[in-house]
Amino acid sequence: MKSQCSCLVLLLLNVCNAVKNEKRPNFLLIMVDDLGIGDLGCYGNTTLRTPNIDRLAKEGVRLTQHIAAAPLCTPSRAAFLTGRYPIRSGMASFGKVGVYITSAASGRLPSEEVTFAKVAKQQGYQTALIGKWHLGLNCERSDDYCHHPSAHGFDHFYGITLTNLRDCQRGHGSVFFNVLAHLPLKTLGVGVATVTLLHARGVVTVRRRLALSLAASVGAAAAVFGLFIVTFPFFNCFLMRNREVVEQPYVSENLTQRMTDEAVEFLAKNSARPFLMFFSFIQVHTAMFASPAFQGTSQHGVFGDAVHEVDWSVGQLMRALDRLNLRENTLVYLTSDQGAHLEEISIRGEVHRGSNGIYKGTGKSTNWEGGIRVPGLLRWTGTLPEGKVTDEPISNMDVFPTVVKLTGGMVPVDRVIDGHDLMPLLQGEVERSEHEFLFHYCNAYLNAVRWHPPNSNLTWKAFFFTPNFYPENGTACMHTHTCFCTGSYVTHHDPPLLFELSRDPSETRPLTPDAEPAFHTVLEQIRAASARHVESIIPVQDQLALTHVLWKPWLQPCCSAWSQLCRCERDSQRSPAGSPHD
Ligand SMILES: *[C@@H]1O[C@H](CO)[C@@H](O)[C@H](O)[C@H]1NC(C)=O
Repeated sequence: MKSQCSCLVLLLLNVCNAVKNEKRPNFLLIMVDDLGIGDLGCYGNTTLRTPNIDRLAKEGVRLTQHIAAAPLCTPSRAAFLTGRYPIRSGMASFGKVGVYITSAASGRLPSEEVTFAKVAKQQGYQTALIGKWHLGLNCERSDDYCHHPSAHGFDHFYGITLTNLRDCQRGHGSVFFNVLAHLPLKTLGVGVATVTLLHARGVVTVRRRLALSLAASVGAAAAVFGLFIVTFPFFNCFLMRNREVVEQPYVSENLTQRMTDEAVEFLAKNSARPFLMFFSFIQVHTAMFASPAFQGTSQHGVFGDAVHEVDWSVGQLMRALDRLNLRENTLVYLTSDQGAHLEEISIRGEVHRGSNGIYKGTGKSTNWEGGIRVPGLLRWTGTLPEGKVTDEPISNMDVFPTVVKLTGGMVPVDRVIDGHDLMPLLQGEVERSEHEFLFHYCNAYLNAVRWHPPNSNLTWKAFFFTPNFYPENGTACMHTHTCFCTGSYVTHHDPPLLFELSRDPSETRPLTPDAEPAFHTVLEQIRAASARHVESIIPVQDQLALTHVLWKPWLQPCCSAWSQLCRCERDSQRSPAGSPHD
């Protein structure tokens, strides 16, 4: 009897919810990897052709101050999915490496975190992730998949769990060469040469045994490193469908087309029920690739070709929505996880960088505007205005509460959620973003703060430290692939380096107390807000600690015998590379 009663109550509640949320939309959330704000026509690019993405801007709302919660893949994506600063979930590194670089690392987005996919699933949505994940995979065995996308609310998964590294494509070299370049090899070489010389002259005597064992250790270390580099693609570059490895290593040339097909199929299959699809492009991160149909179509080498392919794919998805009559009940969102990687040059010397437009972005993983100000487009035909542009500061963490509310779900109240529901602003019910302050982290370190004071159009930004880009001591970001956040890699500023972005969007002229009367009061406000923010952070386990980033062989997925170097090719979607089928 009792259970019948509660059933009835539940049923009534559900009916109420259903009535209240008659406009529960579907979601198609699109993220392009490392795409710069200056790479799209709708943000002013005149040479790359992105008509499909530009159409989204025309038919929806374009954000000009859309800020990624971190300037690096793993933390930015963690924040996007959970609506929280990465430091809150342990997805911000206290060390140098800020992202996962092997697929057999034990770090992960913790299970206690709530993603928008988890909530949508609870609300009866069919959910899918197509493309890149980069938030962990296994805990204790090579197939427990405890942090696979399916453990975070995605019913369907087709994609890669790591990221597309240079090593994933033959002939593109290795990101680890950067690490090599960074090791004090020259010093070591000079040291060894000096000792050898002195030994030969009889100035010092080195014991033969010692010399031999030293040489052996150096040789062994070099061999291990070499083996790691050579086998890396086989271990780390694999494609999964749900919980099965279907291609190892994966072929990238036609991967975007396969992902697009998979997505269109998902849309067709689920057009009659609410769905949430997160389409997470593997392009335009290096190693750069484009399908044969797009090769040579741009003036900007393979980078531009890749952008063209992304635009084509977005066009296919939009066409599918129209064909399935889903345009008016689907909220489409497009963004990038961080700014363009301006220094990226291929091993053949080809320019593989995107554009951050007028925004400064020297050094990957910096909080200069170019590192975090990303494209942001939202379209929901019939509900959101068309052709609207908003200059208010909006975070990629805002997607979480926006999606959760629209699904009819509850935003968790047992934890701090840093994002804000975007609907009032997008629909024009309010004029101002709820983000008076935004905190910009370099890994786990508070790097800069943005302040958009109430009743003002100004946006202040204060840096507590800035990355050393061209220091004499050889520790520039250039040599480390991404900028680091501590020690000799940064310069601290006291007082902080202050900019006002509405007058100086390119961050070229730090303000001085003499030239800026508000200098001290602004910094006081920013310091007070930072103190409040820091107080709100509860220490959690660091998911990017070295022990969580290192390769652990027992966590390594392998779709063949190890002796066959983890190779397989069983992706049923795999169509012959070539013509994009319309
Ligand atoms: C368009 O994008 C390309 C590739 O990123 C870049 O080289 C070019 O400078 C951009 N053009 C403009 C006008 O921003």
